[in-house]
Amino acid sequence: MSQAAPTAVPETMRAVEYSGAGGPEVIDLVDRPVPTPADGEVLVRVAAAGINRADVGQRAGNYPPPPGASDIPGLEVSGTVAARGPGVTGYDVGTAVCALLAGGGYAEYVAVPAGQLLPIPAGVDLVEAAGLPEVACTVWSNLFMEADLAEGEWLLVHGGAGGIGTMATQLATARGVQVVVTAGSGEKIEYCRGFGAVEGINYRDEDFVERMRQISGDHGADVVLDIMGAKYLGQNVDVLAKDGRLVIIALQGGAKAELNLAKLMTRRLRVIGTTLRARSIEAKARVVDGVRTGVWPVVESGAVRPVVEKTFPLEQAAQAHEYFDSGEHRGKILLTT
Ligand SMILES: NC(=O)c1ccc[n+]([C@@H]2O[C@H](COP(=O)([O-])OP(=O)(O)OC[C@H]3O[C@@H](n4cnc5c(N)ncnc54)[C@H](OP(=O)(O)O)[C@@H]3O)[C@@H](O)[C@H]2O)c1
Repeated sequence: MSQAAPTAVPETMRAVEYSGAGGPEVIDLVDRPVPTPADGEVLVRVAAAGINRADVGQRAGNYPPPPGASDIPGLEVSGTVAARGPGVTGYDVGTAVCALLAGGGYAEYVAVPAGQLLPIPAGVDLVEAAGLPEVACTVWSNLFMEADLAEGEWLLVHGGAGGIGTMATQLATARGVQVVVTAGSGEKIEYCRGFGAVEGINYRDEDFVERMRQISGDHGADVVLDIMGAKYLGQNVDVLAKDGRLVIIALQGGAKAELNLAKLMTRRLRVIGTTLRARSIEAKARVVDGVRTGVWPVVESGAVRPVVEKTFPLEQAAQAHEYFDSGEHRGKILLTT
């Protein structure tokens, strides 16, 4: 692991907070006390933080931090170990790391349970690594731990050009899965092909159930990674092959829908819903372990790469959110300290 010379930890730090619920105008840069690492925690001096849709949900007031988590937004960072709390061994001060967080990433320092730290994969730059933990943990836990996605199967990824979509496509392709994506333009579909998608479906003017059947020779999808929830529930069930698994990780199209359960029974289908942020520290550590052994080697081989579109300095967090809100982005947007 790479090491930097340790520097003294200050008492205060710059951090982003939301002054209320709303648009990017509620984003303020403030001074906050540097957190003290508790038992089993490591204090990370943040180099960069990834922006995720959950941060925007929190800003809008409809995705509050789970109990005990920092109110400072930010679910993933990269940086260097600045201090260790009681009971932590093995992370020397100065070690370069990246981390999955329950919050607190948009700041110069964050305290993280040691089980949620990962090394910087060889060949990945310290700043770029900030864009890996959240997408890698989400994709690994949902596709491989929950849905048991296997080599040779067909995967349909909704939102293929997003942060989650690009990681899902790369990782599944690297493991011998045939990936089809949905995206909102021909240009985004081309972009997804660059990550290994065998085909793309423009969700604005094509029926993805019919197109998936054509592309897969009438097989359908063995696994669907869904971010639309209610809006796509019926079609997602229809597009599944026998023994198919639908994994719902976001509700961009609403939370309530009707479902004909007979379709699940006759085709032996499973519908799975998960969130990563609200899981216990122990459960997150299990996911992070899985990422260390299942994802990091393929990142180090070059088959999976972090997809960073743009970086903004922390003081331009509002501009970064404006850009994120515009929907123009492809891949990850990062804040640097
Ligand atoms: N449950 C969990 O633990 C968990 C963890 C991480 C993320 N998530 C969620 O996963 C989702 C994706 O995250 P992200 O970081 O990839 O966000 P992102 O980069 O902003 O991507 C959002 C995606 O939504 C797509 N989209 C919008 N309308 C669509 C439609 N009708 N059909 C298909 N795709 C549509 C967009 O596609 P175009 O750009 O092509 O229009 C875009 O690719 C977010 O909602 C996030 O909150 C959940």
